[in-house]
Amino acid sequence: MPTTQISIENEVTLRNLKAAFEGESNAHARYTAFAVKADSEGLHGAASLFRAAARAEQIHAESHARVLRQLGAEAAATIQPVRVKSTIENLNEARAGERYEIDSMYPEFIREAKGHNNTAAVRTFEWAIEAEKTHARLFSEAIAVLESGWLIAARNYYVCAACGYTAETPESERCPTCNLQWEKFEVVR
Ligand SMILES: [Fe+2]
Ligand SMILES: [Fe+2]
Repeated sequence: MPTTQISIENEVTLRNLKAAFEGESNAHARYTAFAVKADSEGLHGAASLFRAAARAEQIHAESHARVLRQLGAEAAATIQPVRVKSTIENLNEARAGERYEIDSMYPEFIREAKGHNNTAAVRTFEWAIEAEKTHARLFSEAIAVLESGWLIAARNYYVCAACGYTAETPESERCPTCNLQWEKFEVVR
């Protein structure tokens, strides 16, 4: 029956959107706590990176929530208590989380949403995975820099207000992921 088929498809998409909303909401909470810890260790550059990534994850959560509401569902997340360790450990944990989303979670969600032609779900997942790739790279670079004794100074990051793309410099006219104008990027320090 077509109606049964549609509801099963929606169920999978909804479950994935809710899982992604939950994951992004918790990543936002985790990175916000990690930023406080980095500042307390005098690693203000790492704190800036965590704040920028936290804002990007919040933008992803908001984007997933919009799609959930379009599908008639609620967006609700349970925020888990954050276990804050040293900044180097927090950076490693953050990178591992990003890699899970890049290598496993989002590719599966995108494949599923494409299979059901849910273009809104495909778009919000694709926007998120592109930003997570830059986060994984930035966390990797921060780990290398921290191991050589830097990351002391706070610095600006530029976060796309639509898709969460996170850049170190305002280098181009538009967001490479979603095409938003650079003037609409948020500066996070
Ligand atoms: Fe991320
Ligand atoms: Fe963007």
